[in-house]
Amino acid sequence: MCGIVGYAGPRPTVRPSDPAGGEALAVVLEGLRRLEYRGYDSAGVAVVAEADGHDGPGGGAHALHVTKRAGRLARLVEALEAEPVPDAAAAIGHTRWATHGGPTDANAHPHTSADGRLAVIHNGIIENYAALKAELLEQGVPFTSQTDTEVVAHLLGRAVAAGADLTTAMREVCRDLEGAFTLLAVHVDAPGTVVGARRNSPLVVGLGDGANYLGSDVAAFIGRTRDALELGQDQVVTITATSVEVTGFDGAPVTPRAFTVDWDAAAAEKGGYQWYMDKEIHEQPKAVADTLLGRTDASGALVLDELRMDTAVLRRTDKIIVIACGTAAYAGHVAKYAIEHWCRIPVEVELAHEFRYRDPVLTERTLVVAISQSGETMDVVMAIRHAREQGAKVLAICNTQGATIPRESDAALYTHAGPEVAVASTKAFLAQITACYLLGLYLAQLRGNMFADEVRTVLGQLHGMPDAVQTVLDRSEEVRKLAHELADSKSVLFLGRHVGFPVALEGALKLKELAYLHAEGFAAGELKHGPIALVEEGQPVFVIVPSPDSRDSLHAKVVSNAQEVRARGARTIVIAEDGDDAVLGSADLVVRVPRVPTLMAPLVTVVPLQVFAMEVASAKGLDVDQPRNLAKSVTVE
Ligand code: AGP
Repeated sequence: MCGIVGYAGPRPTVRPSDPAGGEALAVVLEGLRRLEYRGYDSAGVAVVAEADGHDGPGGGAHALHVTKRAGRLARLVEALEAEPVPDAAAAIGHTRWATHGGPTDANAHPHTSADGRLAVIHNGIIENYAALKAELLEQGVPFTSQTDTEVVAHLLGRAVAAGADLTTAMREVCRDLEGAFTLLAVHVDAPGTVVGARRNSPLVVGLGDGANYLGSDVAAFIGRTRDALELGQDQVVTITATSVEVTGFDGAPVTPRAFTVDWDAAAAEKGGYQWYMDKEIHEQPKAVADTLLGRTDASGALVLDELRMDTAVLRRTDKIIVIACGTAAYAGHVAKYAIEHWCRIPVEVELAHEFRYRDPVLTERTLVVAISQSGETMDVVMAIRHAREQGAKVLAICNTQGATIPRESDAALYTHAGPEVAVASTKAFLAQITACYLLGLYLAQLRGNMFADEVRTVLGQLHGMPDAVQTVLDRSEEVRKLAHELADSKSVLFLGRHVGFPVALEGALKLKELAYLHAEGFAAGELKHGPIALVEEGQPVFVIVPSPDSRDSLHAKVVSNAQEVRARGARTIVIAEDGDDAVLGSADLVVRVPRVPTLMAPLVTVVPLQVFAMEVASAKGLDVDQPRNLAKSVTVE
């Protein structure tokens, strides 16, 4: 997920030499500052300025100026101060959250066409970029980056060079792209014009007085205008200082929906939500969908070439050890059930900080899977160093391109959840489970444990999960209300079995870290071995009930666990699938989730627990995004 800003305004009045940089740069940098939470591993701008300043009557020809730097936005600003770009009537800016190619100057956006006359910025994933890039390489097109975006720059530049105007070129190229993309482009032959396009990725238009704006969300231009247009799927927009034209990819004119932004600037940066955490909970369908993007071929078969790990190594793996902390460890616990079921390989899940002190049994046939959202958790860094010293292979599942953990691993499989700003991890958790499942299916396919059609079936189930998660999100009002009712609870228990057990652990962690409340997750079967003594009158107990279609008697056992605690005074909140009426006798409240396959259940059953924890913290007036004593990335052991 990246931050994107576009500006089309009046012919500049500021001389190129003016260090202030003029209106275009001011607008773009202001927008990028508000969007930096969407991506901050590199940033860049491009302007189309009059080549000879203002000497000629209508200005001379135009030139493209591109400045881009790896690192935070501040580094780009420094570079622009050192070498100012001329003011311009058209400008685009980008803050990157890397998906293809690490955070380097070369991989930073904007990317330019081979003739240097066009610049483009992109948010999303071009699924078919590899095939398009291979064609261009065969034709001798020079590439300067590892990104999927550069492919678009060359395709657009070539279309304009062949005679198409920038808008037509954008439509032509977009028709050949697959995946998710928001694109903005400028060209020296279209001064004062910015052309944008979107498919499965957001793009909004800001309507100004004598200028118009584009952004990945309204935060890009909230400081300039509150009048906006929402663009739909497969649409192209062309803006100038005084015009906005929208068509479909097929060229048919479109009248976009107009709206007024009623958020303040701070809220706009959170997409209108009160908390980043709430925004990120609502981004979970996209986090799952984006993590799946580009990892199946046209036939629906799984393709994980990016792993760059010798398939022989994967084939001879005889044990997997998942290493992680906190929420990431619980994602690993969920994955354990799936990978053992699919691959028939033993999977251990180890807290990173315990790992190397227990003299783990590691051989060259052990595959260590390190899961980390930040990629900087020092406990995990130290653990994988130990694992590699012992000869094990390490595969990182990480949300942050170029972070320490993937860099120090033998291979990496990235989640594409976008930046997770809130300290409490939510969308990364769902993306980690998704990535672990892709890895498990890939291993099963490679080792012959599953037929290709069986893998395709499970992939189909995964592709259905974004909608299932969205359904749970649409029902979250009752959980929010419950949170306000239970905000003064002193202790809350969470029970689950099988893949519901790690969900219970994660639900408890969320409540602990957000509401500073005692909470504990248990394997439901463990209750009678002691913890049931904890149950007091009126104590809230969440029970994650598996589908009646899951393992033989799993469902009945968990329902009876709910009855046991309820009989002892607990207030049971049962998470159960639609239509499961067997739970009604043991629940004070039933929170319904869509019916999904057993191994997919954690992706939906965790969502009410995330919302509950967030809402309790909010009801208690706590800082949901920055809970006390916690940091987003624990870079000390
Ligand atoms: C989860 O909500 C916590 N913020 C914390 O447990 C986190 O999951 C853990 O510190 C691991 O972080 P990582 O995924 O960046 O390695």
